[in-house]
Amino acid sequence: MSIEKIVSLCKRRGFVFQSSEIYGGFGAIYDYGPLGITLKKNISQLWWRDMTQLHENIVGLDSGILMHPKTWEASGHVNAFNDPLVDCKECKSRYRSDELVEEDQEKIDWTTIQCPRCGTKGKLTEPRQFNLMFKTNIGPVEDDNNIAYLRPETAQGIYVNYLLTQNAMRLKVPFGIAQIGKAFRNEIVARNFIFRTREFEQMEMQYFVKPGEDDKSLNEWKEKRMSFYSQLGIDSSKLRFHEHGKNELAHYAKEAWDIEFEFPFGWSEIEGIHNRTDFDLAQHEKFSGKKMEVFDQQNNERFLPFIIETSAGLNRILLAVLSNAYWDDKENNRIVMKFDPKIAPITAVVCPLVKKDGLPEIARKIMNDLKPHFKIIYDQQGSIGKRYYRQDEAGTPFGITVDHQTTEDQSVTLRHRDTQSQDRVAIDQLIKSINDSMENY
Ligand code: GAP
Repeated sequence: MSIEKIVSLCKRRGFVFQSSEIYGGFGAIYDYGPLGITLKKNISQLWWRDMTQLHENIVGLDSGILMHPKTWEASGHVNAFNDPLVDCKECKSRYRSDELVEEDQEKIDWTTIQCPRCGTKGKLTEPRQFNLMFKTNIGPVEDDNNIAYLRPETAQGIYVNYLLTQNAMRLKVPFGIAQIGKAFRNEIVARNFIFRTREFEQMEMQYFVKPGEDDKSLNEWKEKRMSFYSQLGIDSSKLRFHEHGKNELAHYAKEAWDIEFEFPFGWSEIEGIHNRTDFDLAQHEKFSGKKMEVFDQQNNERFLPFIIETSAGLNRILLAVLSNAYWDDKENNRIVMKFDPKIAPITAVVCPLVKKDGLPEIARKIMNDLKPHFKIIYDQQGSIGKRYYRQDEAGTPFGITVDHQTTEDQSVTLRHRDTQSQDRVAIDQLIKSINDSMENY
């Protein structure tokens, strides 16, 4: 299955649109349509529940996208958040040098390398460092004294608020702070649809532990995070860990693991689990001049906690869910998005078999009764087969059809998307039947 098929379905069915399409699109930014935003919210809500509801020592935070510029000096992003950029002087194409040639970058003679696009040799520039942060200015005057950056990760908002949060919530180490929010990176090569974009959303949880307990905690979080993906219905054979080698480690990391998903374009990272040590807190202490230590009352000691970070990309997880769900059911000549019913954007469609004999009125009443419990839509356009296939493509797990028998015995058919099997269910048992089917999916 190709990524193009997913891109096309996403546009056709209102999951994802290219940004500013009427102006020819805008570099690697995407908009989320009605089904896409609901699917994305359903995924992020499961993550939020997992973190802040199922863990008594993890709390939430929502910090600003713009932060004091010193934050990014302290974090190392101003100096070290760079990608090596290479230009072709012939065709003006632009590449990340480490993606163009994988071998040791120091040893490459760029005059011998061919431009992959125009094929010319000797026209590639030497790599130059390109900072990935988007810059802006605060206030009416644009000068170097009022620079601000759009945050390239949500993590720093957690670090600068961690003591306030700890005090307010009376937390003891180990504890965690979770945040979902936008991050921005001026990626040189943005590609693979919503996989690598310039504006994206992260779901990050920073776990503060006593130094010495960091290795154990990292292992625990690796397992917990991997098991999260089964809740989204992602096939475990399409997930694996990848450990960062010495030359891959970010400037702040002692140890790092990626969770990778097998996309149509190959295995790629959807989440990173990092041991950031006390690097960030020590840096903020240095740059702000404020003590960043926690006080452990029980042992009467102060220390800088180590941080285990779990950092997931919401848009990449969405793409993984879309890729995992896409099923070309050739036997029945239909495309089915096999979403787990827990996260499907629409839970059920209610259809009157015909537009007369009182069936639409009954169908609308059923929709209104089910609405407080599930996301339900009503559809009376076209043949019943066409209506079902439309919903198969949208990934709607259940179809409820009101027919003439309904007027006699108050029952309807409940169709199951994947098998297309149908049960006869009493209207007053629909909520239970749907809940049971969701539970046992
Ligand atoms: N705070 C640590 C951090 O930001 P990262 O590995 O650079 O680590 C974490 O990013 C996650 O954010 C990645 O696993 C990925 O899912 C997502 N991500 C990073 N850059 C992205 C981009 N340009 N577009 C979409 N998602 C991105």
